[in-house]
Amino acid sequence: MAKLTDETRASLKRRSRLVNLGRDSEQSQGFVNLPPFRGSTVLYPDVESLKRPAQRYTYGRRGTPTTEALSSAWTDISGAKGTVLVPSGLAAIAVALMTALGAGDHLLMTDSAYGPARAFANATLKRMGIETTYYDPCIGAGIEALMRPNTKAVLTESPGSQSFEIQDVPAIAEVSHARGACVLMDNTWATPLFFAPHAHGVDMAIEAGTKYLSGHADLLLGLVSANEAWFKRLHQTAGLMGIPPGPEDVFLALRGLRTMDLRLREAERQGLALARWFETRPEVLRVIHPALPDHPGHAIWKRDFTGSSGLFSIVLKPVPEAAVAAFLDGLELFGLGASWGGYESLAIPFDCTSYRTATRWAPGGPTIRFSVGLEDIEDLKADLERGFQRMASFETPASGAPQNEGPFETPASQAPQDEG
Ligand SMILES: Cc1ncc(COP(=O)(O)O)c(C=O)c1O
Repeated sequence: MAKLTDETRASLKRRSRLVNLGRDSEQSQGFVNLPPFRGSTVLYPDVESLKRPAQRYTYGRRGTPTTEALSSAWTDISGAKGTVLVPSGLAAIAVALMTALGAGDHLLMTDSAYGPARAFANATLKRMGIETTYYDPCIGAGIEALMRPNTKAVLTESPGSQSFEIQDVPAIAEVSHARGACVLMDNTWATPLFFAPHAHGVDMAIEAGTKYLSGHADLLLGLVSANEAWFKRLHQTAGLMGIPPGPEDVFLALRGLRTMDLRLREAERQGLALARWFETRPEVLRVIHPALPDHPGHAIWKRDFTGSSGLFSIVLKPVPEAAVAAFLDGLELFGLGASWGGYESLAIPFDCTSYRTATRWAPGGPTIRFSVGLEDIEDLKADLERGFQRMASFETPASGAPQNEGPFETPASQAPQDEG
C-alpha cells in the first residue's frame, strides 16, 4: 500500500477521510491501527535538544502519537484550526468556557444547555466572578438585546439534548461577533458529520466523544475544536490545566471514528423510523424530533444540518407517574440510563421544569427521551408496544384530578437528567 499523498488526501470524500485520517502504517510498524501510546517521559537525545526541543513529542501530558491521530482527524472533519482532547464532554465544556472567559465577564447560555454546564456556570464561573444569563434557545438575532459591554461568550447547544430546540447559530454568531463575543456550541447531537460548526460561525465547538464517537458506551471523552481566532488560547488553557484523556480511551475513540459515519446514518434511519411510529401511537401527544416537518425548528434544521442522529423525545398524553414507570420498568431492549449514542437503545424520563429559568417548559404530559440503537426496529417497536400495554393497564386519573405535567418530581440535584 502506497503512502497517501497530500494531494490524494485533500481530494478524499468524507467517508474515506474517516477511514484514513490519523493513520500512518509506517508509524504503526505496518499494523492497520496505531497502538495506544502510553507514557509520561519522552527521552531527548542530548542536552542541546532539551534546551531547544525540536522533536514532535516532549512530554506525555502534552500529546502523544495517539492523541495527535485523533485530534488531527477531528480538526479535519470539523473544518477547524485545531482540536484539544480532554477526559469527558463536561470537561470540554468547562475548558472552552475557561478559554473564553475571565473575571468580570458575562456569559450568555442557552436555557436548553446540558444540565451540568449550567451547574458549572452557576457554581464555578460565579465563584470566579463571571455572571451568567440564560436565554431562550429560539432567540436568534434577538440575542443582541441581552448583550452587555462585558459579554464575552455565548454558549449554544443545538438541538438541546432533551428538549431539541434548534438554534439559529449563524444569526447568533453574527450578532455575537459584531459585539466581540466568542461563540461556543455543544455540537454533540449532530457531530461535525451533520453540522459543520465553524462554517456556521462557531468559534469553539464541543463534542462529548462519549456519545457517537465512542458509539459503544465504554468510554468518556471530550473534544473542543476551534477556529483560527481561538485555537491558540484554547490549546494553552487546556495544556495548562493538565487534563489529557487516558490513552486507551483515545485509542477506542479512534476506532469509533472509523465507523462513525455508518453508525450515525443508521442512527438517523432508526431514529426517524421510531419517531414516525410514535407519531401513530394514540398514547403519544407529540414527538420532538427536529427532522420531522412539524418540529418548530425544522426549517432551520433543514437549512443548516445535513442529518439527524438517533436521539429524540416524546410527550405522552397525561398519565399517572406509576403508569410511566410501568412502561419504562418492563422494557427489555431499552436500557434505563444516562448518556446516549451507543449501539444499544436507551430510554429515560426527564423534566426540564426543574432547571429552566428563561423559558417555561410545559409539554402537556410526561416526557421520555430515547436513544435508538442498532437493534432490529421491529423488535424495538414490539418492546415499546408491550410497554404501552402495561401503561394502559393503569387507571387514567378521574376527571378533575391533577394531571401529571412532567414525569417525576425528583429534586434537581438528584435527577437522572443531571447526567447524560
Ligand atoms: C449534550 C451533552 N453535552 C455534554 C455531555 C457531557 O458528556 P460527558 O458525559 O462525557 O461528560 C453530555 C452527556 O450526557 C451531553 O448530553
